[in-house]
Amino acid sequence: MYVRALSGVNSLDEIQITGGRALEGSVIVQGSKNAALPMMAASLLHRGVSVLRGCPRITDVYCMEEILKKLGAVSRWEGKDLYLDCTRADGTEICGDSTGRMRSSVILLGAMLGRSGRGTVGYPGGCVIGKRPVDIHVFALRCLGVSVQEKENGITARRLRSTGGTVVFPKKSVGATEQAVLSSVLSDGETVLKNCAREPEIVWLCRYLRGMGACITGEGSSCIRIQGVGTLNGGDLRVPADRIVAGTYLCAAAATRGRIIIENPPEGELDAFLDLYRKIGGQYEGKSGKLIADGRNVRFPVTFLETEAYPGFPTDLQSPVMAVLATIPGESHIRENIFEDRFRLAGELNKMGAAVRVSGKDAWIRGTETLQGCPVTACELRGGAALVLAALAARGDTVIRGYSYIRRGYEHICSDLAGLGAVIREINRNSFI
Ligand code: UD1
Repeated sequence: MYVRALSGVNSLDEIQITGGRALEGSVIVQGSKNAALPMMAASLLHRGVSVLRGCPRITDVYCMEEILKKLGAVSRWEGKDLYLDCTRADGTEICGDSTGRMRSSVILLGAMLGRSGRGTVGYPGGCVIGKRPVDIHVFALRCLGVSVQEKENGITARRLRSTGGTVVFPKKSVGATEQAVLSSVLSDGETVLKNCAREPEIVWLCRYLRGMGACITGEGSSCIRIQGVGTLNGGDLRVPADRIVAGTYLCAAAATRGRIIIENPPEGELDAFLDLYRKIGGQYEGKSGKLIADGRNVRFPVTFLETEAYPGFPTDLQSPVMAVLATIPGESHIRENIFEDRFRLAGELNKMGAAVRVSGKDAWIRGTETLQGCPVTACELRGGAALVLAALAARGDTVIRGYSYIRRGYEHICSDLAGLGAVIREINRNSFI
């Protein structure tokens, strides 16, 4: 009862920010959430120990770790390195209580199929950014000889044949591509995935698997080929820098007209974002492996920006960019093509003095140099981080409720920003209950 009460008040966790200071300094970006989660799932494919080095200590990683432990894995942290011993992780059922907490848990189905030939997962949860169906996952598995039954409380899958196959994805999906890769690396034949997603996190997953002995080519292009192998060794890879967190911090510099150095930028993964950065008046240069970003001249609204699958502009940076545009006088226009309910922060930005108008996929943002701090509420991960940026730019004090959403993906957002000169502190009311 007590535990439930604690988790029930999580959304009361708050961040307090006194805005108006230009950020200055350098920051090291955490490991990538969206790369780490599929690597963790892939560890199930080896009956022994795998290690993810520099794994971010964030809620979603802990959630995935808990699910793997329920399947029989043993986990251990050594500093930032996560060791996963999947010697006895032979469980094949993950209930909805676990999967409902995190969208990417659904890809464990592919990993269980690869390992045991069968699996059941409850329907996945995740951020409230719109409908998040799993039809493409199911379609891909069926193309690969898996019998899939969708029931009221989850999906049950059983491998009928193990000879590989061809999937032509009807639409690009990061998770469904990862699902198909995970379910195929231990098959007996060749698998060809066409029109697959090209996101860097898929490339990192394939690198991790190749280090385990998998035979994969073509990742990063829209056609991936997998030659099945009999067994895999343990995985061991450093989790790459998080391109979305890096983009968020670059937005923080832009929103506050500051100048920051990213010590470990995700190389070549931020091109679409950096194009936009330049268009709004930001400048950047790469030097000695670092990225120096200067937001002091950010002042141009954006005529039109739309989110697209990689290498297009990432949907996960749409909200942070909206917060920056809310600080630029004039009107900007954003179209969100990936998720249909990803403008929830608009109302909160309006409370702070911006004028954001939303109609379907489109948002028009009339920004102001004088955002005003006030109490606001985060209701999902990236929108929550965007409110932090708006608060840094605003005059006066802002209290952001719903910090727990932000912690799903940001390991040290408060201390990282404080290190750049922000006046920011976290309040965890749980400790008072
Ligand atoms: C991943 C990322 C998420 C990012 C998203 C798009 C992880 C853990 N999460 O999510 O941060 O915002 O990619 O870059 O890596 N779709 C279907 N049917 C399906 C699957 C997806 O219609 O079976 C739709 C989705 O509703 C969405 C689009 O396809 O409109 C893309 O979704 P997808 O690429 O699958 O996103 P995720 O893998 O869930």
